[in-house]
Amino acid sequence: MIVLKESISIDKTSEIPVYLQVANALIHHIRHGRLRRGLKLPGSREMAALLKIHRKTMLAALDELMAQGWIEMVPRKGTFVVNDLPEIKPKKLQEQGPAPYPEKTLFQIDEKRVPPFPLRSAIAANALVINDGFPDIRLAPTELFIREMRSLSKQRSSKTLFGYGSPKGPDVLRETLASFLSDTRGLPISAQHVMITRGAQMGIYLAGSLLLQPGDHVIVGDPGYFGATLTFRQLGANINFVPVDDFGIDVDAIAKLTAKKKIKLLYVIPHHHHPTTVTLTPERRVRLLELAARYRFAIIEDDYDYDFHYTSNPVLPMASLDHHGNIIYIGTLSKTLAPTFRLGFVVAPENFINAIANIRKTIDWQGDSLMEAAIAQLYRNGTIGRHIKKVVKLYRERRDHFCRLLQQALGDHVSFKIPDGGMSVWTKFNNANLKRIAAKAAEKGLIIPDPSFYNTNTNFNATRMGFASLNIKEQERAMEILTKSVEALGIRN
Ligand SMILES: Cc1ncc(COP(=O)(O)O)c(C=O)c1O
Repeated sequence: MIVLKESISIDKTSEIPVYLQVANALIHHIRHGRLRRGLKLPGSREMAALLKIHRKTMLAALDELMAQGWIEMVPRKGTFVVNDLPEIKPKKLQEQGPAPYPEKTLFQIDEKRVPPFPLRSAIAANALVINDGFPDIRLAPTELFIREMRSLSKQRSSKTLFGYGSPKGPDVLRETLASFLSDTRGLPISAQHVMITRGAQMGIYLAGSLLLQPGDHVIVGDPGYFGATLTFRQLGANINFVPVDDFGIDVDAIAKLTAKKKIKLLYVIPHHHHPTTVTLTPERRVRLLELAARYRFAIIEDDYDYDFHYTSNPVLPMASLDHHGNIIYIGTLSKTLAPTFRLGFVVAPENFINAIANIRKTIDWQGDSLMEAAIAQLYRNGTIGRHIKKVVKLYRERRDHFCRLLQQALGDHVSFKIPDGGMSVWTKFNNANLKRIAAKAAEKGLIIPDPSFYNTNTNFNATRMGFASLNIKEQERAMEILTKSVEALGIRN
């Protein structure tokens, strides 16, 4: 056992507990034959003394080896290295050495079938990012979330949360959301009208796949949200672009289109339209409902940004009125908490929910039930409600500061309206070329959103500047870089 003494070194500063370090080292020696099969091991007391560790730690290491099947205890004889090591040795397919992994498929891939989503390029860890309008993830109540996860994992009832469940999500969250949405958004619903999804994007995809056949006509805003347009296009739909003005999507233009051709689906963003941040007026909402009832088309109401209002109150969703079952209402916690939670919801009549739940099964049996149940607890104990109140207050301050800085830094180079809500400022660059400024800023360590993906061929020379995720210091640093970038390019008013 001298071998052991010399070759097992223990690092007390490591994140790996000492007993596991010892177990791992012993496994290493068994694998490499230094501790041969069938060898009788010294007693735990002796080994602990040899390695200068506590006997309990040694016993834990031996338990680990026993549990994994490397050693066995023979009553009244002692502890032995097993003869049959617990290692899986797959059989070779043929006697050839390993081949390099192929660069490409030999069969053809139809590139036209690959939706052209923008690639998120790798961003240096120290780069400063003005994003597209995301929350400050540092503020998300992650400790409380983890506490709920831990407590649910300990409860016996949570066994159901570890197995296969419903593709609609755990009942507890569906019930909780139904009552939260009826209290806060006037939706007259209960759990059977709610399905939990992995974010709003999955809801858009599921609704689109149930509704659309190749060649069907869909209306989207121009400019608009590329995530939805690319999805409908992927499903084979014909995309009809309708302008978006300061009051939301142009309903007169929609009325003309619906009178001319059979529209299957209209996709609208009622609050803080992506990208221009405008809110659809109550009058237009009511007219859209009338049109949908008359021409029998479905409306996806993507209320991804309902929670964030600074100077006005939110407008109740179309789904809160009598919509004859035409509205598929979609929401998300990506902005409320953080995108990592992958938690969205679809609200629709029960037959629709049942149908999309089965479509979901073709790609995903269910969501992450434990996480979803923990989120239900955070709603129930008021954590999410309190979080929304706090961040709305903070984001209002950040919005005001950001807009002041933007005006000071770029003056007449830009025009923008201070947004009523949401997390970004739709910033139009007047004479200055945004792409050139973005490239220069990137050289200086500031990333600003790529404006190429606003659903449209028009070059708006504009971008969404997210203010919510940057604190005041970060905003100031970002604006300094922007100012320097404009100066470096010699851009003048
Ligand atoms: C308008 C709109 N809808 C949906 C989404 C997707 O959200 P999720 O992260 O919930 O899939 C986004 C993301 O930014 C969005 O801007």
